[in-house]
Amino acid sequence: MTGAQPGWQGDAEAIAGKTMQAIAAASTMEALRQVEVRAVGRQGEISLLMRQIPTIPPAERKAFGQLVNRLQQEAEAALAQRKEQLIQALIDAELADDTFDVTLPGIARPRGHVHPLALVTDKVESVFTSMGFHVLDYPEVESEFNNFEALNIPSWHPARDMQDTFWLDDGHLLRTHTSSGQVRTMHQFAPPFRAIFPGKVFRYEATDASHEHTFHQVEGLMIDRHVSVAHLLDSMRTLLTAILERDVEIRLRPGYFPFVEPGFELDISCQVCGGKGCPVCKQSGWLELLPCGLVHPQVLRAGGLDPAEWQGWAFGLGLSRLVMMRYGVPDVRLLLSGDARFLSAF
Ligand code: DAH
Repeated sequence: MTGAQPGWQGDAEAIAGKTMQAIAAASTMEALRQVEVRAVGRQGEISLLMRQIPTIPPAERKAFGQLVNRLQQEAEAALAQRKEQLIQALIDAELADDTFDVTLPGIARPRGHVHPLALVTDKVESVFTSMGFHVLDYPEVESEFNNFEALNIPSWHPARDMQDTFWLDDGHLLRTHTSSGQVRTMHQFAPPFRAIFPGKVFRYEATDASHEHTFHQVEGLMIDRHVSVAHLLDSMRTLLTAILERDVEIRLRPGYFPFVEPGFELDISCQVCGGKGCPVCKQSGWLELLPCGLVHPQVLRAGGLDPAEWQGWAFGLGLSRLVMMRYGVPDVRLLLSGDARFLSAF
């Protein structure tokens, strides 16, 4: 067809008719694709008809335009319908083919893994939320007050040397322990309350198999009117039984921390040798895991609470340590190494 001629209507309909037949006759996806290109592709016959619209005499232009539009829509609908039929036929053929084994395993895609620290943190959180604790999140960049002063560790105190500190230029520091959240909690909530705050802590120290400059702790704090060591012990036993998925024997030894009085080291029976004595527990049958104690009156005061009215217990669980024991990880540095081979073991 060249230019506008009388009989354009017949020509257009002839083209459309041919296209419809070709669509119905296309028996493969490839054949259908060719029909599609020939009809409605950029240089396709119906597309060319479209482009002739401006050359038609004005009186007939509208009718011609409407016709071509309709033909194009019909062709596109027929193409889509035929495509669906062909796809369905392919699926049917595949299913009918008895050499097609639907039980063959698919291609395995590598899967991501939940980090063991996250696994254990989740567990600790669910144990404590079931006992009515809030789970809180506090800043890693802390004030000297929250990290030390408020915890009864003034600047001259020898306990400062036990935790080598990353100081920032502006006088802040990277928290050396999650205990820095204790007075934050006391300022945030009206007692009585109970909360845990898990997180990263930082120490300026040389690294080796059991020391890392960045590691994880969970702090726990409960404030109420009558709080005793028995509450503390029972909560710790519940926690450890849930995490280690067995009954563990625990014992308390006196331990010194300026922010608790009395303070304890909580040991658990060695999970490697079952308490008989081995190199991991240095033949003692016990592993030191969980420092804790009753909150020191000075700390309560720093948190704005009256020690005559309120008491509390606190613990600082070494999460990294717990993960190592739970999964038998021999080197703490593996935990934050980002090594996919290590992670894939979980
Ligand atoms: N913050 C201490 C540390 O990292 C651990 C600790 C000891 C936390 C006794 C406590 C506690 O809450 O009561 O070494």
